[in-house]
Amino acid sequence: MINIAVFISGRGSNFKSLHDNIKSGLISGCRIAAVFSNNPDAKGLDYAKENDMDTIVIPSKNRTDKAGYDREILERLSPYNIDLICLAGYMRMVTNELIKAFPNRIINIHPSLLPSFSGLNAQEQAINKGVKISGCTLHFVDEGMDTGPIIAQAAVPVMENDTADTLSARILQEEHRIYSQGVRLFCEGRLRVESGRVVITGGKADG
Ligand code: GRF
Repeated sequence: MINIAVFISGRGSNFKSLHDNIKSGLISGCRIAAVFSNNPDAKGLDYAKENDMDTIVIPSKNRTDKAGYDREILERLSPYNIDLICLAGYMRMVTNELIKAFPNRIINIHPSLLPSFSGLNAQEQAINKGVKISGCTLHFVDEGMDTGPIIAQAAVPVMENDTADTLSARILQEEHRIYSQGVRLFCEGRLRVESGRVVITGGKADG
């Protein structure tokens, strides 16, 4: 059984969608063992509590010791024997402390077709640039900002009258879809990173 920790900072719709797809059996062989948030007011925490899930909160406001903060997370996670960390709207850069402890075992979702529009407000960046197609990217996390090996992407059209909000809503549907797809592949042991690229293997026998 693969133990997942989901990291959230806000609404938590990607977290809920993952949870739904694990419950329904679309993703098997894993469970969400803990939900972590740096924001005590994250809406997604309410959902976690309503569903009797273990939550860990370490407020990050006014915390400048980034590495120390991540070491504290590791300590708090240790009883859960976590295999995979899913960043789902987690609005904080993770440091090497976490990355070294979970090499190619931290996944993030970003609302653009990386490497375009990394960083904050990706949907607004896409609209301001006038691109006709945007989308989302699921990737492993490395030390860079939204630079790690790409697991999956989905394209979404940008309409003439889109605002950042309408585009975000269209992209979000695809985020939910590819996040579960990627976690399913991870849990099936089908993701391998070779020379900075993700190779999807045929199944456990290949791996
Ligand atoms: C998503 O658009 C995700 O790509 C970005 O933050 C948003 C989080 O949404 N990193 P939610 O909290 O999962 O609803």
